[in-house]
Amino acid sequence: MNTTPLISRPRAVERLVVGQATSDGAGVKLTRVLTHDLQQRLDPFLMLDHFASDDPDDYIAGFPDHPHRGFETVTYMVAGRMRHRDSAGHEGLLQNGGVQWMTAGRGLIHSEMPEQEAGVMEGFQLWLNLPGRDKMCPPWYRDIQSAEIPEYTLDSGVLVRVISGESHGVRGAVARPEQEFPTEPLYLDILLPADSEFSQSLPTGHHAFLYVYRGVVEVAGADGTTQVPSQRMAILANGGDGVQLRAADGATRVLLIAGKPLKEPIAQYGPFVMNTREELMTAVHDYQNGRLA
Ligand code: CO
Repeated sequence: MNTTPLISRPRAVERLVVGQATSDGAGVKLTRVLTHDLQQRLDPFLMLDHFASDDPDDYIAGFPDHPHRGFETVTYMVAGRMRHRDSAGHEGLLQNGGVQWMTAGRGLIHSEMPEQEAGVMEGFQLWLNLPGRDKMCPPWYRDIQSAEIPEYTLDSGVLVRVISGESHGVRGAVARPEQEFPTEPLYLDILLPADSEFSQSLPTGHHAFLYVYRGVVEVAGADGTTQVPSQRMAILANGGDGVQLRAADGATRVLLIAGKPLKEPIAQYGPFVMNTREELMTAVHDYQNGRLA
């Protein structure tokens, strides 16, 4: 298969970001790649965490019961197993290569707990904002097993897993009508063999970033290239019609994430993301009074 789009104005790297080591839940060690200060720049994305460890002490405590309201969480497991349960009675097991897409909407309480006592646990959690009109929608989620994620392989050997959006004519596991979900998220996991290249067209007005988690990626721009090492996020400049990547140092893996900005006020208090402070107060009050269960 080779349907490589022609990119005439590649988006250059505007900024490289080093994630912050932190812990969340009951003490899970992770790297927060997309932090609070980047929420406006990367609207509609609110957070990206990368957890990767072969030491159970770093992850075994998991994320016991906690609430969410006003946005979506997308959990992508690269290795390991995580079981989730929520207050509406849903339960599912997320494992190697699978995705859980959860629209928290007006809210729920759930737990995300590792279901293994040893071995490597690696994955990502992305937070995607909802427009004000949808923040109080009924909660919804879908578990997508690895085999259900559409993939394609280019002649160069580049393998692309299309978690959401569309790439080279392949529709993702989550592809929703624009009028229903105006953020139009693109979420790709791209595996590039050494020295291979990949390009992806991107709508001009959408915010976009990469996260390299194996190897080194070279990103083309109008004035030359930028090398993005492993464990770095590269914010792509706005404008331009796409992105051009090359594996610069052996085989690489990179997430490419893009979406249409909502351009609404962002008010966050922990696991609640609304438009105003008043709505946050209501969320806390509802949680304290058992109305998120
Ligand atoms: Co959660």
